[in-house]
Amino acid sequence: METPKIVNPETNKAVLITGASSGIGKSCALELDRLGYQVLAGVRNPEDGKALTEIASERLTFLIIDICDRTNISSAVNTVAQLVGDRGLYGLVNNAGIAIGAPLEFIPIPELRQQLEVNVIGQVAITQALLPQIRQAKGRVVNIGSISGRIAFPFMSAYCASKFALAALTDGLRMELKPWGIKVVLIEPGTIQTPIWEKSIKFADSLISKMPQPLYSQLYGTATENMRNAVLKEGSIIAKPEEVAAAVAIALTAKKPKTRYLVGDKIYLKAIFALMPDRLRNWMILKEIGIN
Ligand SMILES: NC(=O)c1ccc[n+]([C@@H]2O[C@H](COP(=O)([O-])OP(=O)(O)OC[C@H]3O[C@@H](n4cnc5c(N)ncnc54)[C@H](OP(=O)(O)O)[C@@H]3O)[C@@H](O)[C@H]2O)c1
Repeated sequence: METPKIVNPETNKAVLITGASSGIGKSCALELDRLGYQVLAGVRNPEDGKALTEIASERLTFLIIDICDRTNISSAVNTVAQLVGDRGLYGLVNNAGIAIGAPLEFIPIPELRQQLEVNVIGQVAITQALLPQIRQAKGRVVNIGSISGRIAFPFMSAYCASKFALAALTDGLRMELKPWGIKVVLIEPGTIQTPIWEKSIKFADSLISKMPQPLYSQLYGTATENMRNAVLKEGSIIAKPEEVAAAVAIALTAKKPKTRYLVGDKIYLKAIFALMPDRLRNWMILKEIGIN
């Protein structure tokens, strides 16, 4: 991967990152701060914002942004306008996300909506709201997709659907915004070590505890256990969020950024895996997680 150029702090390009409290978003905030950008870190909890400001330069400020809350988005847009003024917003890193894992048959519809609300609709809502300021800066939009936007996994269908959708939105938006020179990039990480795995398992446990018993256990008990072990195994892979942050930095700094950046352990193998015939790929995934 190319090494991103250090931006002269005096150029003071402003970049907003959603979901900067932990994992990939936090790494992006710190890396872009280190490179000299004016980082506007979107968090939901002020304590997370304060913690970030303590380990970053004075340029970094935090904003309270819940991408599913319309009022919250519009007040964040006003704050961004005050902070960036005529420069506009150079970068928007749409990173916030959640991962709901459970058999699709039993995911309650409100939870399914929530998965799509955060990972798809929320991304569009914040992008729409900030586009005038991005246009002003002839800036860039960097969306954090996933390899799960190319391969669907059982019991992660809702999450995968959200990332497939985000990939399509990114492609479409790139073409729509070309007349203004706004570049739109998709980052596609494989498995990265962040709190998302633990949160996902915790959420799945709470969902499963509410599922109709003994029906659920009879139908999906073994499969759920196998999937949990597979997730734990994936979650122990040591690709770090800093690798994703480095790709985001390149997407923002490269003169001609690629449309997509794949990041993570054996990621090119996974990308090839996505191109296999459906039945072969399905068989291999099921075999890997011990389901016949
Ligand atoms: N880790 C991986 O293996 C992996 C792989 C591919 C793609 N990704 C993607 O990378 C992105 C970051 O995930 P991560 O792995 O770094 O997980 P993470 O540490 O759990 O971070 C998720 C972030 O999203 C925020 N968030 C959740 N709902 C939000 C909402 N409604 N509005 C604003 N912020 C919200 C969280 O804020 P709170 O702390 O307030 O909840 C947190 O800051 C996600 O889009 C994820 O799908 C991750």
